[in-house]
Amino acid sequence: MTRWIAPGRINLIGEHTDYNDGFVLPFALEVGCTATLSPATEGWSVTSAQAPGEVVVQPSGLAGREQVPDWAAYVLGALWLLHDDGVEVPPMRIEVDSDVPTGAGLSSSAALVCSVVCALDDHLGLGLGPDGLLALSRRVENDAVGAPTGGMDQLASLRGEAGHVLFCDMRDLTAQSVPFAPADSGLAVLVVDTRAPHRHADGEYAARRTGCEEAARRLGVPALRDVAEADLDDALSRLDDEELERYVRHVVTEDARVLAAVEVLRGGRVEDLGPLLTASHASMRDDFRITVPEVDTAVEALLASGALGARMTGGGFGGCVIGLVPEAALDAAGDGVRRAFADAGFGDPALFTAAPAAGARALVSPDIRGN
Ligand code: GLA
Repeated sequence: MTRWIAPGRINLIGEHTDYNDGFVLPFALEVGCTATLSPATEGWSVTSAQAPGEVVVQPSGLAGREQVPDWAAYVLGALWLLHDDGVEVPPMRIEVDSDVPTGAGLSSSAALVCSVVCALDDHLGLGLGPDGLLALSRRVENDAVGAPTGGMDQLASLRGEAGHVLFCDMRDLTAQSVPFAPADSGLAVLVVDTRAPHRHADGEYAARRTGCEEAARRLGVPALRDVAEADLDDALSRLDDEELERYVRHVVTEDARVLAAVEVLRGGRVEDLGPLLTASHASMRDDFRITVPEVDTAVEALLASGALGARMTGGGFGGCVIGLVPEAALDAAGDGVRRAFADAGFGDPALFTAAPAAGARALVSPDIRGN
C-alpha cells in the first residue's frame, strides 16, 4: 500500500500570470487530498470519500478511455497518460479523500491530481523526480481533463514548504522558498470563502488566456512576461483594442507586484504587502475583470475593518478572498465581512486563517515500509 498527501494552495499574489510565463507567489495549505494505492487483480478501480460509488475501468490510454465522472478523470488521467507513455500500469485500487473545499479557488483539483501522481510514482517506482512529477500533474489537468490552467497550482502543491511562500518563475518553472511568517509581525492571513457560485468560470478563464496570447502575438513577444513595466504605455499604444489593453495592463503590473512582494518579504516588511494585495485586487476587478460582487464586497469589508490589504485569490469569478489582518483585528474583520454579506443579501461566507504548510509528502511509502 502506498499513501501520499498533497495540499491545496492559496496564491498570495500573482494572478493569471502563470500562463503568461510570469511570476506567482503561492503557498501550500494545511488541508489536502490523500491518495492510497493498493494492488488489485483486475482493472483500475477508483473510489472517493467525497463521491458515491466505485469507478472501475479497463487499462487504456487517453484515446480509449471510458466515460467516467469528472472527479474520476482527475484521478485516472495520470494512469491514461502513463499508459500512453508506454508505462505498464498494473491493476490497482486508488482511494482518494480530500478536505480541500471544492469550488473555492483553493486548488482542490491540484491536490487530487498531485496526490495521485506522487503515489503512482512511488508505487510503481517510476523515479519521475521533481520536474517529472510537475510535468505529469500538469498534463493530467491540461490534456486528460482539458482545463487550460497554467501550472501554478501543481507547483505549489508539490513543492510548498511550511513557513514559506513559493516564488515561482513560470517560464523556467523554478521555485524559491521565501520566508512568510506573518504571525511574527502580529498579522494573519484571513481567508473568506465567499461561496459565490462560479459563473461561467471555465469559459471566462479560457477567454482570458486566449486574449493574453493574442496580445503577446500582436506585440511580437513570446509571452506577456516579456513586456517590461517601463514599456507598458508604449505596448498599450500599439494594441488598439480596449479589452486586450486591459489584459496586458493587468498582467504586466501584476508581475511587477509579485517581484515587489518578494522584495518586501525578503526585507522582513510583511506589513508592506498590504497595498500590493489591494492593488492586485483593483487590477483584477477593473482591468482583468474576473471578480464578482461577493468577492469585491469581501475585500471592501476587510479593508474597512482593519485589514492592511486584501484581494481575491485564484482563478476568479467567485472563490476566496484573503486579507492581511492584524491578529487583534481578526474578530472585527470577520464580523465586518459577515455583516456586509448579510446587508447585500449574500449567503454566509466561511472564514478561517491560513498559514503556509508543507507540500506533497508520503504518508506510507516503500521506504517507510522498509522494502
Ligand atoms: C487557476 C489556474 C492557475 C492560475 C490561476 C490564476 O487557479 O489553475 O493555473 O492561472 O487560476 O492565477
